[in-house]
Amino acid sequence: MTNSHDPVKKPTRRHFLTRAALVAAATPLASSAFAKPQPAAAVSPPQIEPFWGKHQAGIATPIQRSTYFMAFDLLTTKREEVIALLRAWTDAAAVMTGSPAREDVHPNPDNVPADAGDTIGLSTARLTMTFGFGPGLFEKDGVDRYGLAQQRPAALADLPRFNGDQLIPERTGGDLSVQACADDAQVVEHALRRMVGLANGIAKIRWAQTGYTAATKAGETGRNQMGFKDGTMNVATNDPAAMNQFVWVGAEGPAWLRDGSYMVIRPIRIALEHWDRMKLGFQEETVGRHKYSGAPLGKQHEFDTLDLDATDADGNPRIPENSHARLAAPASNDGAQILRRAFAYDNGVAQIAERWPPWRQAMTFDAGLLFQCYQRDPRTGFIKMFEKMAKFDMLNQFTTHVGSGLFAIPPAAKAGEYIGQRLFG
Ligand code: HEM
Repeated sequence: MTNSHDPVKKPTRRHFLTRAALVAAATPLASSAFAKPQPAAAVSPPQIEPFWGKHQAGIATPIQRSTYFMAFDLLTTKREEVIALLRAWTDAAAVMTGSPAREDVHPNPDNVPADAGDTIGLSTARLTMTFGFGPGLFEKDGVDRYGLAQQRPAALADLPRFNGDQLIPERTGGDLSVQACADDAQVVEHALRRMVGLANGIAKIRWAQTGYTAATKAGETGRNQMGFKDGTMNVATNDPAAMNQFVWVGAEGPAWLRDGSYMVIRPIRIALEHWDRMKLGFQEETVGRHKYSGAPLGKQHEFDTLDLDATDADGNPRIPENSHARLAAPASNDGAQILRRAFAYDNGVAQIAERWPPWRQAMTFDAGLLFQCYQRDPRTGFIKMFEKMAKFDMLNQFTTHVGSGLFAIPPAAKAGEYIGQRLFG
């Protein structure tokens, strides 16, 4: 509809200038503040996580606010093209993680800009980019596409089907993985767009999931969507001995993977509405911890010892037999430990059928935990731990594993190398 009879008169540019002049004259303090140079802002600490080195960044790095995980299927049949892609990804990641986004949009209007430009002026926001190799890089449908089949480590075993798994093929697997993490959601999206652009014709997107963490105060454990502190008991990333014991691949692994790790990633949908209808006492028995303090049941403080032998007045275990904390504890798993680095995810709402009575089918939250863990060997880490949990954990009433991936995470590249160079030799 045209606005030729619009009774609201639009201000002209002249009106604006006149008004601006009047406002400036009436508010001398404000106008002089514009005219004078501002005192320099305090220099903020550099927000750069080192890219080159021994271990890839994004594993032991203190968790960031946002993530974008993406799994790719390789399209090419040529080994050189896989190498070229890894080199291009490495170079781009080194630039993006190492310096604040630059104004590198090519000024020539006849060129396609090298960069979308959406992070111009933003900080790198502690961006890390972590790369992984799925089983399909080594062998797919019985075909050794890139002459790497002999190099596949035994620990990169296909995950078994776990009790209750409802894996969606479009959210499972992948030949390669790239994960960007940063304190800025736009920075992580930008980073993945660059990776997708560089993969054009060589690899295609298989699945992806974004995620976030809460803005907790430094030193405090964040809460997950269920309201519980999540991450209390975890491998201490600042303890090299613990990291060597549980996370980094050592001499037992192939030389190309030494100082790397294995990563399991699983979007786990949580029936949030169902959970929110549960009594506090039941929620706490399910987890095995108090909700507000994070302390083990019967204890006062978050970091009090989880005493699996403690009993109540009736002689029943204080930490219920089927509680999550008990089943996940090292003492219940022959000492197994994994480094968890999980984000929450939220894909809005979807039509979903709940797994438990009353088997509600409704439009509900498509949200949950982007569970992620690193370990030295998945067979003695995630697989060992989850086989029992998948059957007995009370938390399963509220959680459904809808996707899955297992990736070998090579060590970091040394300056000038590309990620995974030691695999390709
Ligand atoms: C939506 C799914 C999940 C939720 C909401 C969840 C939540 C929690 C919470 C609240 C804790 C207690 C606080 C803490 O120690 O961090 C915990 C501990 C833990 N969870 Fe989970 N978790 C989930 C899935 C898993 C899965 C799939 C695994 C691995 C197979 C796992 C492994 C662990 C481990 C190892 C601990 C620490 C136990 C200990 O050392 O005592 N969690 N989780």
